[in-house]
Amino acid sequence: MQKSILIIGACGQIGTELTIALREKYGNEAVIASDIREGSDALMASGPFELLDATDYEAIENVVMYYEIEEVYLMAAMLSATAEKFPMRAWNLNMNSLFNVLNLAKDKKIDKIFWPSSIAVFGPNTPKTETPQHTLMEPSTVYGISKQSGERWCEYYFKKFDVDVRSVRYPGLISWKTLPGGGTTDYAVEIFHKALEDKKYTCFLAEGTILPMMFMDDAIRATVSLMEANPEELSIRSSYNLGAMTFGPEEIASNIKAHLPEFEMSYDPDFRQAIADSWPSSIDDNQAKLDWNWKPEFDLEKTTKEMLKNLMN
Ligand SMILES: NC(=O)c1ccc[n+]([C@@H]2O[C@H](COP(=O)([O-])OP(=O)(O)OC[C@H]3O[C@@H](n4cnc5c(N)ncnc54)[C@H](O)[C@@H]3O)[C@@H](O)[C@H]2O)c1
Repeated sequence: MQKSILIIGACGQIGTELTIALREKYGNEAVIASDIREGSDALMASGPFELLDATDYEAIENVVMYYEIEEVYLMAAMLSATAEKFPMRAWNLNMNSLFNVLNLAKDKKIDKIFWPSSIAVFGPNTPKTETPQHTLMEPSTVYGISKQSGERWCEYYFKKFDVDVRSVRYPGLISWKTLPGGGTTDYAVEIFHKALEDKKYTCFLAEGTILPMMFMDDAIRATVSLMEANPEELSIRSSYNLGAMTFGPEEIASNIKAHLPEFEMSYDPDFRQAIADSWPSSIDDNQAKLDWNWKPEFDLEKTTKEMLKNLMN
């Protein structure tokens, strides 16, 4: 079935792999990548690209009309660590981009939206282990506040205006194709690059900082399955909890050491430690399993092998 898809923020860590996965599935010409900057050579060569600012409603509307877009994946955002440095810019980008896309759907110019939330919606008073789908949230970061507000608006637009918006709370994502864009879990990607380049890494989070994480292939599979799910089966229109694995920096270091025995890890926590300390250590994602058969495939060992294999090439 042919459908026309627009990805906004397509050149980032997730967008790059999502664009290529959707192009493989729906055809290169059917998936329009867009961003405020150009992406990797592989992404740019694989299909249409538009320079597009997610905060510019008219510009998005023009692209939507020109390509007769049916589905929008909104990946543009300012991430947790950067947002603490630029609170108002983060709020404006994260919220206005979402309103632009929600309003296009409300006005029936597009049919379906994917918008990612994050484990950052949870805060220091949230139960830390097996964090439930519905629980006390109270996020304490600029980024988390924007994601929680976004979730409330998504559910509101679904209930009030029948907007088909779908969302997951991604944990920290580990990938090798594109570097991460300023989050608190970036260490789990940097560590592989440094292990191969320098045989040592200084981690900006302390030993014992256990966070929920996921390999990118699982994140892309989750995103595509949720978007393909029967709408009747979706009981959550704010955002689904999503889990795969959970570990601290010392566990990833010992997994790397099993392949590269010379690898040495040291710790020098910075401002990101406080952000990490406010987040859950594991996630209860039963609702996603029940509603759309979510099942992760990558644990830490498999992720480590995959990362090292691909980065060595
Ligand atoms: N990567 C993770 O670990 C993670 C975890 C949880 C949630 N998320 C969420 O997933 C989404 C994508 O994250 P990511 O890791 O790919 O981020 P990223 O920072 O790697 O990519 C974001 C992209 O958006 C683009 N962008 C920035 N401002 C823009 C604007 N005004 N208009 C258009 N594009 C703009 C950037 O150029 C960049 O290519 C975000 O909503 C993020 O909050 C990511």
